Amino acid sequence: MIIAIDGPAASGKGTLARRLAAHFGLRHLDTGLVYRAVAARMLDIGVPLEDAAEAEAVARDIDLGSLDRVALSVHEIGEAASLVAPMPAVRAVLRDRQRSFAMEGAGAVLDGRDIGTVVLPDATVKLYVTADIAERARRRTDEIRGRGTDADLMTVRADLERRDRRDTGRTVAPLTRARDAYLLDTTGMDIEAAFRTAVDIVNQASAERSRAVGGNA
Ligand code: DC
Repeated sequence: MIIAIDGPAASGKGTLARRLAAHFGLRHLDTGLVYRAVAARMLDIGVPLEDAAEAEAVARDIDLGSLDRVALSVHEIGEAASLVAPMPAVRAVLRDRQRSFAMEGAGAVLDGRDIGTVVLPDATVKLYVTADIAERARRRTDEIRGRGTDADLMTVRADLERRDRRDTGRTVAPLTRARDAYLLDTTGMDIEAAFRTAVDIVNQASAERSRAVGGNA
């Protein structure tokens, strides 16, 4: 079983992906962390973020199995990642590596921006998780404050809007809902409700898929 989850920043897709992986006993890859890890390594070794050849080399080398979510979650690394993410050579390397990760073992959950559209177009089930901008800004602000850091709601909202524009507006693999992705709008839902809805969608989609495969046999 391969579950592909896409959606904008602060939509709740990361939490859903982790919980779905635990529930179905699948491995999980947060692909945003992979882009962040590439950017963090570039900053560490002191090469300019615009150096596409270096970024491609770093992308080949990143260990997908040891991504430090806490360290990579800081704002500056997110900003740096958004400069590395539009590079076609970096995306091509990471697309292949993410595909290999998904194909190993019994299955996986991958979340990001282009999983259902580019990385895993044949996933068992695709979810497009979103929520309205006011709610995403509120959630992200609470999350930052929960870590003991000050955050201003309007600044966080402006930041999310800017990231949405970057993610949906880039030429290579822009954020968009795959035609066959289930839309899960989590506006007004708490995480429990969103999780239960996602589990129902996955169960239904995999039952339909088994019936379709059985019907063709
Ligand atoms: O979801 P995030 O903030 O951790 O993502 C970090 C950056 O990587 C962000 O600029 C979007 C980009 N990204 C991407 O282009 N494709 C993905 N599959 C995942 C993230």
